[in-house]
Amino acid sequence: MADDLMIAVKPEIAEHARVTAAQREAMVAEATADPDAFWAKEAQRIAWMQAPSIIKNTSFTGDVSIKWFEDGVLNASVSCLDRHLATRGDQVAILWEGDDPSTDAKVTYRQLHERVCKLANAMRGMGVAKGDRVCIYMPMIVEAAVAMLACARVGAVHSIVFGGFSPDSLASRIQDSECVMLITADEGRRGGRKVPLKANADEALKACPSISNVIVAKNTGGAVAMQAGRDHWWADACDAQPAECAPEPMNAEDPLFILYTSGSTGKPKGVLHTTGGYMVWASFTHENVFDYRPGEMYWCTADVGWVTGHTYIVYGPLANGATTLMFEGVPSWPDNGRFWQVVAKHKVNIFYTAPTAIRALMRDGEGPVKKHDRSSLRILGSVGEPINPEAWLWYYRVVGDERCPIVDTWWQTETGGILISPLPGAVGQKPGSATLPLPGVLPALVDNEGTLLEGATEGNLVILDSWPGQMRTVYGDHERFIQTYFSTFPGKYFTGDGARRDADGYWWITGRVDDVINVAGHRMGTAEVESALVAHASVAEAAVVGMPHDIKGQGIYAYVTLIAGVEPTDALRKELVAWVRKEIGPIATPDAIQWAPGLPKTRSGKIMRRILRKIAANETEGLGDTSTLADPSVVTDLIDNRVG
Ligand code: WTA
Repeated sequence: MADDLMIAVKPEIAEHARVTAAQREAMVAEATADPDAFWAKEAQRIAWMQAPSIIKNTSFTGDVSIKWFEDGVLNASVSCLDRHLATRGDQVAILWEGDDPSTDAKVTYRQLHERVCKLANAMRGMGVAKGDRVCIYMPMIVEAAVAMLACARVGAVHSIVFGGFSPDSLASRIQDSECVMLITADEGRRGGRKVPLKANADEALKACPSISNVIVAKNTGGAVAMQAGRDHWWADACDAQPAECAPEPMNAEDPLFILYTSGSTGKPKGVLHTTGGYMVWASFTHENVFDYRPGEMYWCTADVGWVTGHTYIVYGPLANGATTLMFEGVPSWPDNGRFWQVVAKHKVNIFYTAPTAIRALMRDGEGPVKKHDRSSLRILGSVGEPINPEAWLWYYRVVGDERCPIVDTWWQTETGGILISPLPGAVGQKPGSATLPLPGVLPALVDNEGTLLEGATEGNLVILDSWPGQMRTVYGDHERFIQTYFSTFPGKYFTGDGARRDADGYWWITGRVDDVINVAGHRMGTAEVESALVAHASVAEAAVVGMPHDIKGQGIYAYVTLIAGVEPTDALRKELVAWVRKEIGPIATPDAIQWAPGLPKTRSGKIMRRILRKIAANETEGLGDTSTLADPSVVTDLIDNRVG
């Protein structure tokens, strides 16, 4: 481990830092000693209709209740739009860069405000009211951000479904939260290809009676079916609307959005975030972690379909009055220099991406990077999965020319925003470590029995107390919320991650310790892939595990037991791969399928995944104790027929 490679904060960075090491220490001390005072002050960074007088009211025990700023009243869209109009109305709020390198667009805060108000008026006209759920299934176009903010404007709770998800995945998410409206586009564009969003939506909506209106943005102009009475073109719905729309007053604890995410069991759960605490956290972390300065060009390459896009493309940067770059394309198209071409074209100062992209680009060497001017870059960020030291160093040396600090930001959909990360002017970096917690964040390690571990050691990562951006519940299932996050180690928030703390107190996230896998920075529940597989007529049983993958971090390895009499053929293997893509979406594409006449089970019928993970990883030497298996011979068969 590169524990001892410490890259100290450079003097020229420390000198101009928004937060210096000493200031960080003071913030940590105050946030820990007096959270109420600290967060009351930080709450002033957003716009309130009525400022909160009650700050923190949280409990991780019993029914688990998390409330921040509970008597405050606000509207998230006002913090992101209205309050900037006087000071930076003509500044670019969203700089959109198309998939096709010859296309881009600039939307100022004034224009964005107007577009949001028009859509919000149209939504109200269609009966959408405070508390209603609205599903957004969009490509990376400006309308996606407009749709989010328009929901916030009218008090509707948005639920974004990533545009790469299948009709089935879309339908089950719409059904779970009974959305009344869907906002989508004719088609999306990615890497020169078209994504049939409206056609997928039509397929999904056959099973979604709760949706009474669909608003469709015209993006590619591709032909789509429009159902009279239900489907409306965006322009028809919005163009004639007034350019002002009164923001709905929301209590700080009224929901802002739901975002479905995978867990170790069952269907994806609707992570619910509320308004006040989330907005404070988004603004606080965006400004401090990225050392954001007014006027800078800030680019987060995520998709708005994931939490990173919510917090660090839309809510955080817009709350802070930044120019946020929104990219429709992919890093590899038209060629592997695309990221750096965009950095040069728009003079990007702060760049935030995922390790999987870095690893993929590393393969092509320095050429495609060095070809483009990156002198505008000041801060580099990483998110979504552990970044291996090799990728970290390449990012630092090749992309950042050893000038730019790297912020490796650890967080989750559930945490709303970043929890562990260097502040670039305050915390020296170690390649591969997310370094230290942000002020007010109290991580700890526990062993499997829940005993707190001290000093340099490794264990399960828990958080001891609440922070404003924390999720409040699982939509419609508070019991599942308690069960998932607070029952394994009672009284503590369990992250599902493992971590190591070194002798300097630095945190190294080692990856999930549950049955969630992280494929190219996308979270995937093994149970979801298994249930897609067993839904196929030829499959009797399936067990899915993660396997190490050079680029994607983890790949999907599936063990499949066929129905008696079905022949295991290559054609069937291909068919199953296509089947999973259709059932869930391309991000769930299995990397390997192994035919398994039997699975290693205990005598009580529980599949021993530990063994399956080892075989997938080709670590068949130390399989450990297999004597408790009902039939130890299946293991030999699985080892002999390993794929890849
Ligand atoms: C992983 C994405 C190591 C982790 C924001 C977490 C990371 C899961 C990092 C959440 C990081 C995220 N280092 N691992 N910097 N960031 N992870 O909900 O396993 O899509 O639990 O949120 O990604 O994924 P999610």
